[in-house]
Amino acid sequence: MDVEIVSRIEKLKKELNAIILAHNYQPPQVQDIADFVGDSLELSIKAMQSNAKVIVFAGVDFMAEQAAVLNENSTVLHPEPDAKCPMASMISVEDVEKAVRKYPGAPVVMYVNSPAAVKALANYVVTSANAVNLVKALDSETIIFGPDKHLAEYVAEKTGKNVVAVPEHGHCPVHVKFSLEEITCLKSIYRNCVFIAHPECPRAVRSQADFVGSTSQMIEFVKRSSARTFLVGTEVGIIYRMAKEAREKVFIPASTKAICDDMKKITLEKILSSLVSKSYVMKIDRAVAEKVRKAIENTFDVLG
Ligand code: 13P
Ligand code: SF4
Repeated sequence: MDVEIVSRIEKLKKELNAIILAHNYQPPQVQDIADFVGDSLELSIKAMQSNAKVIVFAGVDFMAEQAAVLNENSTVLHPEPDAKCPMASMISVEDVEKAVRKYPGAPVVMYVNSPAAVKALANYVVTSANAVNLVKALDSETIIFGPDKHLAEYVAEKTGKNVVAVPEHGHCPVHVKFSLEEITCLKSIYRNCVFIAHPECPRAVRSQADFVGSTSQMIEFVKRSSARTFLVGTEVGIIYRMAKEAREKVFIPASTKAICDDMKKITLEKILSSLVSKSYVMKIDRAVAEKVRKAIENTFDVLG
């Protein structure tokens, strides 16, 4: 069955001049059919550089939206509009406006996991791969940062700056599922393991990690590391990619509950029907897209 779906997808891709971009948390079959698999930053860059007529984005809503913002010449299709990142919906335009009134002059740095309308109010848009370096480079001691309070805290730790989390409660429901007890227990079983974690994890979990980074930075780390066994503190879908990239190594999920249900809403069947019916097209208000693009360009300008 999958073989038939895969060959129909491949055929349609050629006919439509389409590519498939997939996030590191996507199900194995989706990763395997993708032209490129990566983290939010790599996927944004791929979308920006693509000459394809159609980009099918296998990921959650804000990622497909970001691709549409960055590539006006391609049609960006999101195979399942109901695949939405719950953290992205924790921040509103009003939250940012309120913070700007409270901290006048402070730059607004928005995590890519947010809606376009909110990013349009930001001076800079970052991902987990470049948030620390961007904030470090800014000529301001106070930074307004949303919507992830844990990433904001991590950036504050790494830069020594006053990083104000907006809203106060923004978090990823998947990365708060790790528990210290479980990690301690797993470390005692896998004695020589190296613990790697995503910066969306709470401080108590991050503080136990030997390495903290974006999903692709974690993959690069395990490839380079001389260690053999890794305890993985992020969404479990990444383990498929890690096992492919470093076949001789062993990957243990730090929690089997760390599953992003929204990422798993993208399936081969939905990718096929998205190509057949050319749906669902990501549409962004032009004025909003322009402002978001400017905030992304500002980040690239600072980081070079
Ligand atoms: P990355 O940019 O590190 O891939 O993270 C995206 C994300 O949604 C993590 O939960
Ligand atoms: Fe959003 Fe968390 Fe899922 Fe990432 S893992 S897409 S932050 S809910």
